[in-house]
Amino acid sequence: MFDLKEKSAENKSSLNKNMTMPNSMSMSTDSSSLSSSLSITDEEVKALDAEYSSWGDTVHYSSNPKVFRGCEGSYMYDLKDIPYLDLQMMYSACNFGYKNQRITNAVIDQMNTMPQLTPKFIQPYKSLLSEKMSKMIEARFHEKGRMHFNVGGAQANEDAIKVVRNYTHRNGMFAFQGGYHGRTIAATCITSSFRYREKYGHFGDRANFIPFPYCFRCPYGMNCESCNHFCVKQFARNFESEYKAIYDPKTKECEYKAFIGEPILGTGGYINPPEWYWKEMKEVLDSYGIMLVIDEVQMGMFRTGKLWAIENYGIVPDIMTFAKSITNGMNPLAGFWAKEKYIAPDVFTPGSAHSTYCSNPIGVRAAHEVMTIVEEEEATLEREIPRKSALFMRGLNYLKSKYKEVGDVGGIGFALRMELTEKDGITPNRALCDAMQEEGLKGDLSYHGKKCGLVLNNGGFFKNIITLVPQLYISDDEIEMSIDLMDQLLSRLTK
Ligand SMILES: Cc1ncc(COP(=O)(O)O)c(C=O)c1O
Repeated sequence: MFDLKEKSAENKSSLNKNMTMPNSMSMSTDSSSLSSSLSITDEEVKALDAEYSSWGDTVHYSSNPKVFRGCEGSYMYDLKDIPYLDLQMMYSACNFGYKNQRITNAVIDQMNTMPQLTPKFIQPYKSLLSEKMSKMIEARFHEKGRMHFNVGGAQANEDAIKVVRNYTHRNGMFAFQGGYHGRTIAATCITSSFRYREKYGHFGDRANFIPFPYCFRCPYGMNCESCNHFCVKQFARNFESEYKAIYDPKTKECEYKAFIGEPILGTGGYINPPEWYWKEMKEVLDSYGIMLVIDEVQMGMFRTGKLWAIENYGIVPDIMTFAKSITNGMNPLAGFWAKEKYIAPDVFTPGSAHSTYCSNPIGVRAAHEVMTIVEEEEATLEREIPRKSALFMRGLNYLKSKYKEVGDVGGIGFALRMELTEKDGITPNRALCDAMQEEGLKGDLSYHGKKCGLVLNNGGFFKNIITLVPQLYISDDEIEMSIDLMDQLLSRLTK
């Protein structure tokens, strides 16, 4: 059994001393009574959903969707109160743990004071949140900017596209192969998967998709030790001649005035680029006056050990979008930050982007509390996430050494990945990846003699990568448990 030798008693506890963090796997009584007060079986829930809910969301990717009744800390709970250690945390929307007491209390306070307000008026927490976030970003990027809010990551990206269009008067954007920016219509146009665009991506300009530096499977067939940064050089070659079809060297006009990219691929498999990549790309973009929009929807909020993932690469974007963990998965709030010259009131004028819920008081209050936590715990998070990430990586390397089907492991902070392959260590093994997820949801694993399950998610170009997205307060014990449960699954499913 895998054992994290370097655990210390102090490190076993959670980081946030103000939170109720279950180090055991049992749920607090208030959630148990909530789940049992609804007298409906899982089979009934599924039958009603199948008949009356649209199948257009992602529930019916599975032929037997799972029903959950409660959540707390790192765990989801089913009807029988079996704990499932969650290593996907609502696709990185709950970095600060399920039912984080501080955020819940702030939301309850807002519910009791002013839960609703038309967005044409201001409420104190909106101004305070804008100030807090602008100042935190200015301290990091040394750039004055402003915040704009909306609901949902896709809408935040749509609004960022509006800023680009408004400033550059062009629609075209570069984006990454493997990039994901949401499923509203404009966000679909800049998301690489043709599967999404085929039906709904024809209402705006499709992006020009360029290869992501996925070194384990280099899109150019190179070896990262000897490639000499070929991917950046290849991108720069687009500007050599008008016949490369995007640039006029005489007028210095480019058909694409912005590049939108995730700093680290999220849905694309938690693939982090080499450390030189973004700096070199930014130099090329700057040479041709191309704006950089960084989508931090999934990788922001300390997922990578820094508030914003792009900080790991030492560059400053022109626009940065965020969502998900900004409210820790509570009432949605999303938005973007832009440098002053793009978003000044006389440029991005009143009414340019709006929704009835764009700065809803509950979402704003949740975000304000999250950002306050971040301010208070920044130093601890910056210290502890790399330490715990190293422990997790040690466990992943143990699994890699034990199973030939673990072809590659990697990542940064708590944006980690385990790439599953055939025994040859390279051919993608999606079947094993799917089976691991299904098997984990059966709830029949065991840890220290107690029955439990494991919630996993997958991603990647071949959907063969387990993306590992624990809450930021995961304890050392829970890291050991994560590796142990994945070990149990791999030993069940491989021969
Ligand atoms: C990088 C990125 N951008 C945008 C989105 C879309 O966000 P939402 O689902 O809130 O619309 C996602 C969602 O997973 C994402 O990972």
